[in-house]
Amino acid sequence: MLTDTFGRHHNYLRISLTEQCNLRCTYCMPAEGVALTPKSHLMTAQEIYTIAQKFVDAGVTKIRLTGGEPLIRKDAQEILEKLATLDVELAISTNAVITDRYIELFKKIGMQNINVSLDTLIPERFKTITRRNYFQRVYDNIFQLVSEGFNIKLNCVLMKEINEDEIIDFIQLSKDHAIHVRFIEFMPFDGNNWDRSKLVSFQEIMTYVERAFSKEDILRINDRPNDTSKNYQIKNYKGSFAVISTVTNPFCDSCNRIRLTANGKIKNCLFSSDETDLLSALRDNEPIEPLIAKALKAKFKMRGGMDTPEKFQDPSQYEKNRSMITIGG
Ligand code: GTP
Ligand code: 5AD
Ligand code: SF4
Repeated sequence: MLTDTFGRHHNYLRISLTEQCNLRCTYCMPAEGVALTPKSHLMTAQEIYTIAQKFVDAGVTKIRLTGGEPLIRKDAQEILEKLATLDVELAISTNAVITDRYIELFKKIGMQNINVSLDTLIPERFKTITRRNYFQRVYDNIFQLVSEGFNIKLNCVLMKEINEDEIIDFIQLSKDHAIHVRFIEFMPFDGNNWDRSKLVSFQEIMTYVERAFSKEDILRINDRPNDTSKNYQIKNYKGSFAVISTVTNPFCDSCNRIRLTANGKIKNCLFSSDETDLLSALRDNEPIEPLIAKALKAKFKMRGGMDTPEKFQDPSQYEKNRSMITIGG
């Protein structure tokens, strides 16, 4: 049921808990906001659990919770506790604005892998990028998570003339802390004003790195199966860094991900415009397994069918997709 026509087995489910967020990152949320789905059309905690359970029965071994910001959901605790009873690795992607309230819960349910978004180390810039003034909170919360022993990956979306001058400062965070910093190529979604010229490419990132460190000190470290990132470490640094190069060096051949949106739709790819409604079927007491299988059989080989740079850069293609805030990454 979870294998597509290219033989890729999908054992990693990403569930978006909410379309809302306490930040307003320019690359993720359109300036005018998004039309929110009425609450009655969003999955309840129980529905999330029921659907997740069916995926686990079918072979999913990892679930990542995303948003918007997953922790702002009022019943986030209930959802986390329920999902933690499943036989899966549970992880979360968060902006860390309120993670301090969840430390004990994360520990209690044994959730160790936390990915945090942080695009700048300069408070004023944080305000420009996120349209909110929460830099210090986020920064303190990240180091609280690190000192509490969680495995932290820092996600940094790089954009030309916005934050590319901070690449080395971010890598320096990995000197004394076991943080894994990941630079992400800016990707196109509906309403995020994407333009190829704003993107800092994998190659450009590595050029910055090679200018700052000697060749022998830049170690290419192993990528794990299905990693989205190409991983590196500076010699003798405690942490590491990586690049997620969806645009210039896609990694679709090893894709094992399937997505469930907050309103209960399957996306078979981050860039798929076709969606499959599981929630309505569940509410109508119809079996959802055949729908999941069908959705996966329709999965394109690469980036939702945008398999050339030309197609990928064509707004009429990527604007058919949702805005990122309603996908969750
Ligand atoms: P791990 O589970 O730790 O590997 O994290 P992750 O990279 O899958 O998840 P995260 O939510 O931290 O996302 C980091 C960046 O990777 C975001 O920009 C996501 O949009 C992107 N990303 C995550 N999954 C995929 C994927 O399947 N395809 C592509 N192209 N990008 C992805
Ligand atoms: N391009 C690349 N990454 C993005 N994210 C959000 N929007 C984009 C985009 N347009 C990332 C955030 C977050 C992750 C879940 O998705 O940095 O860490
Ligand atoms: Fe998988 Fe689509 Fe991401 Fe490629 S772009 S890795 S097919 S989710």
